[in-house]
This record gives sequence, structure tokens and C-alpha cells, in this order.
Amino acid sequence: MRIAVIPGDGIGVEVTAEAVKIVRRIGDVYGRRFELAMMPWGAEHYLKTGETIPPDGYALLRDQFDAVFVGALGDSRVPDNRHARDILLGTRFELDLFVNQRPVRLLDNRLCPLKGRTVADVSFTVFRENTEGLYVGIGGRFKANTDDEVAVQEEINTYKGVNRIVRHAFQFARANGGQRVCMADKSNAMADGHALWQRVFKQVAAEFPDIAARHLYIDALALLMVQDPSQFQVIVTNNLFGDIITDLGAALQGGLGVAASGNLHPGRTSMFEPVHGSAPLLAGRNVANPIGAILSTAMMLEYLGLKTEAASIERAVEDAVRTGHVTTDIGGSLGTRETGDSIANAIRAG
Ligand code: NAD
Ligand code: IPM
Ligand code: MN
Repeated sequence: MRIAVIPGDGIGVEVTAEAVKIVRRIGDVYGRRFELAMMPWGAEHYLKTGETIPPDGYALLRDQFDAVFVGALGDSRVPDNRHARDILLGTRFELDLFVNQRPVRLLDNRLCPLKGRTVADVSFTVFRENTEGLYVGIGGRFKANTDDEVAVQEEINTYKGVNRIVRHAFQFARANGGQRVCMADKSNAMADGHALWQRVFKQVAAEFPDIAARHLYIDALALLMVQDPSQFQVIVTNNLFGDIITDLGAALQGGLGVAASGNLHPGRTSMFEPVHGSAPLLAGRNVANPIGAILSTAMMLEYLGLKTEAASIERAVEDAVRTGHVTTDIGGSLGTRETGDSIANAIRAG
């Protein structure tokens, strides 16, 4: 299997090294051949060459690889974040990776910041629409940098786009023994764009009578995710709201260091990455938690049909968390590399 690897910037580079270590270990233990192609794309490459992603970059990823792995992108030397928009958002858009799947699963009771909550209470999946909304880059600035500046950023919601992500959420719930899907929007304030979400949600829900469909406004969802996360199984929402509530979801699991994600178009080359960013303050210090990246490789292998291999990564991560062989952000004393080593060593066939 051919995997394109984009370590990117800051701690992206460090956590990707551990993710790669895990994939190689899986290759050794299970006798699988992974061909990993390292892509140099990131802030450094952009500053040196003026290129964010080569002209044929998206086609290369789509046509030459089975999956893409990304560390993180973001660097203060690129204040407009242009390279990250081209590489990360560009790949989501150009490969039409309309599903951003972000599991929120507490691995150990000790990691939950909520009083008295256990692993049984925090176990749901967020589906974030990944190709539309406020992220499409339609807008502009008039009289920029003057006191008369007008800045417009349009939110795009299409019937096709909303329909396919809502449908995907229901299908996932049904396939995974779920009974409930919650859709969150802001249709009380955004009466046009989010009326479309309302209409589509009701329409799709009617096709899934076995699944309980619930609507919440996004602000109320944020409240309830903290007050009682146990009520959620599957949440579906738009691009921006999904971005925000998955950082909140990461907090429920123990922080950004452990949150994983997949950017998917079922049946096509898809992209996997931890939820966190390049964390410039942690970069280069061997302190970043590699678990979000490592669990993203498990999502990647599962997507590629390697279920047993994916489960063995998850087991090894759970062991590391339980025994405290982890980084300081979640109460351990190991570095990034040592955490990766310990998880890699714990991976066994079976
Ligand atoms: P961030 O995710 O980099 O960091 C937020 C907080 O979480 C910081 O306190 C950081 O120390 C902590 N953190 C993040 N990852 C961690 C890890 N693996 N282990 C331990 N602690 C971790 O978000 P930010 O500070 O808002 O953004 C920094 C840069 O990253 C910006 O340029 C931003 O645009 C970019 N970013 C990129 C991605 C991505 O590539 N997918 C995601 C988010 C932010
Ligand atoms: C994420 C990140 C990105 C997003 C940024 C870096 C553009 O926050 O993947 O969650 O907003 O999608
Ligand atoms: Mn984010």
C-alpha cells in the first residue's frame, strides 16, 4: 500500500515520525508492505521555494496513493496561513473529502476533565462537513486596511453537500449499532443557509426510522457536551461548527494530544491527521503527545481494510495510557519518541 506522508510544520514533524514508526511496526508484525513517500510540503518549503503544493500535487495524492497522512501545518512566518490553506484545506477540497470523521472516545477515566465521568460516558463520533460552509473562500475585502474596510466571507451550503454528510452520519450510526444522530446548526439565526440543513435532516431522518434523530442549536450542543456527553452517539454539523466542537471534544478525551481524525471520501484516497495543530511552543522539544497521530494511523489502516491491524494499534495505545507510558500532557513522564517506542513495542499480532 502506498501512503503519502506530509509531516508539515512544528510538532507535526515529531508526531508524524512516531506515526510512521507505528505503521512500519505493523508492517513488520503483520507482514504487510507499506510504501511511505515523504512529502516536504510545509512552511519551510514554501518560504524557500515559493511553492505551497506543486501544480500536480492533488492529482499525485489522488492517483498515486492509497492514503495520505498529515502531521500539522501552521507557522508564524506565514501569517496568512497560505501554505496550510493550499495543502490541508486544498486537499480536502480537491480530493472532495467531504467527511471529516472525528471520534471522541475517552481512553481512560483519569483523562476526563469532567467530575465523575468515565469511559462509558464519553464515546461518540462527530461528522464535520469538510468541503463547504464558511471554508470555501468566497468573499473579499473592499477598501482593505482603511477605516472604511468591508470584509465579506460567504457561507456556502448546497443540497448535495448537506445531504451527503447527513446521510453518511445516519449510515455510520446504523452500521455501528448506534441508535441516535444529533444534527447541530444555527438555523434560529442563520435562517437561509441552515434552513437547508433543517430540511435535509428531516428528509434523511425519515429514511432511517430505526435511528432517533435529534436537532440541537450548536450553542446548546456545546453546553450539553460538557454537562452530559453520555447522551451523544453521532453528531453531524457544518465545517466551522465541526472544527470548534471537535476541539471541545478533544478536551473531553484528555486534550488535543489524543484526538484523531480522518478526511474521507468513501471509496477514494483519503487523508488522516491528528486534530491538533503545529503547537509552536512545544515544537522541537520532544514533548508533544503522538497519540492523536498514532490513532489517526489506526483510522487509516481501518479505512484501508486492515481492521485487525488497526485494533492492535488501539489496544497498544490503551495499554500505554493505562500504564502511564505517555507524555506529560496526560500525566506521564515520557517524551514523544519514547511514547512512540513504547506503543510500537506493545503492538503484537492477534
Ligand atoms: P494547536 O492545536 O497547535 O495547539 C493548541 C493547544 O493544544 C496548545 O496549548 C498546544 O500546546 C496543545 N497541543 C496541541 N497538540 C498537542 C500535542 N500533540 N501534545 C500536547 N499538547 C498539544 O492550535 P493553535 O495553537 O491554535 O495553532 C497553532 C498552529 O497550528 C496555527 O498555525 C494553526 O493554524 C495551526 N493548526 C493546524 C491544524 C492542522 O494542521 N490540522 C490544526 C489546528 C491548528
Ligand atoms: C483543523 C484545523 C484547520 C481547520 C485549520 C488549520 C485551517 O483547525 O483541521 O481542525 O480549521 O479545519
Ligand atoms: Mn481545528
